[in-house]
Amino acid sequence: MHFIQGTNSLVKMVREFTNIQEASKAAVKIIIDIARSAAVSQGFCSIVLAGGSTPRQTYELLGEPRNAEQMPWQTSHFFWGDERWVASTHQESNYSMADKSFLSKVHIPEMNIHRISTGYENPSIGAAGYEKLLREFFISGGRMETDGMPDGNTFPSFDLILLGMGADGHTASLFPGSALLEEKQKWVVSVPAGIGSPPVARITLTLPVINQAKNILFLISGRRKRQILDTMLARPAEAERLFPAARIKPAGSLVWLVAEQD
Ligand code: 6PG
Repeated sequence: MHFIQGTNSLVKMVREFTNIQEASKAAVKIIIDIARSAAVSQGFCSIVLAGGSTPRQTYELLGEPRNAEQMPWQTSHFFWGDERWVASTHQESNYSMADKSFLSKVHIPEMNIHRISTGYENPSIGAAGYEKLLREFFISGGRMETDGMPDGNTFPSFDLILLGMGADGHTASLFPGSALLEEKQKWVVSVPAGIGSPPVARITLTLPVINQAKNILFLISGRRKRQILDTMLARPAEAERLFPAARIKPAGSLVWLVAEQD
């Protein structure tokens, strides 16, 4: 286990596993612990799900009875860090993957599932629509302190944000070289089609929102992604220039679960 020299006392660490099965088990335990603790301390938990394929096993484990029965589903609210601009039933939909993996199998109130709707006219309107949903949940819902905070840059503090990382170092749908990495005001932005896999338009949370999280959990597997993490640990300044994932430096805890298996 490595500890990342954190900018604050909160935990920043790398935990290594032989394979994605073991890493997924560790991820499920962290999710349950945070959800249960938040339910007691604040009466709700806000969890942002990652897309892509790596987290699938974690979600499937979370939906298994022995784990599901430990989750406080009534007080757990699920969001997405990003979404592809496809129908919610499309095989490339991040919502669809999570729904099939666990959400459709557990007793969670429908109102606790806050998916990124892709039914709007276009991704830009879709991004504004998701930001409106988040502002209603956090600000109108009284789940966020805004008194005394300067207008324009108040950001929600999710209890847990799950993130993956692409082989190019992107995370959520924040890609290398994107001007969206410099967004300082908006909570949610749209990403033009043509980048990423699949190369469709996307909706993504912005860095200020992600970095406001109480807890961030990366789940990655394979040699290439491990090499990127090693660069982040050894040469942070260079990594920040190259990899959006290196710009994830939350106010809270940051844990990397790394599976060796490719
Ligand atoms: C997406 C994801 C994205 C993902 C990485 C890693 O919508 O594509 O949110 O950020 O986490 O691309 O994807 P894999 O886990 O499939 O490698």
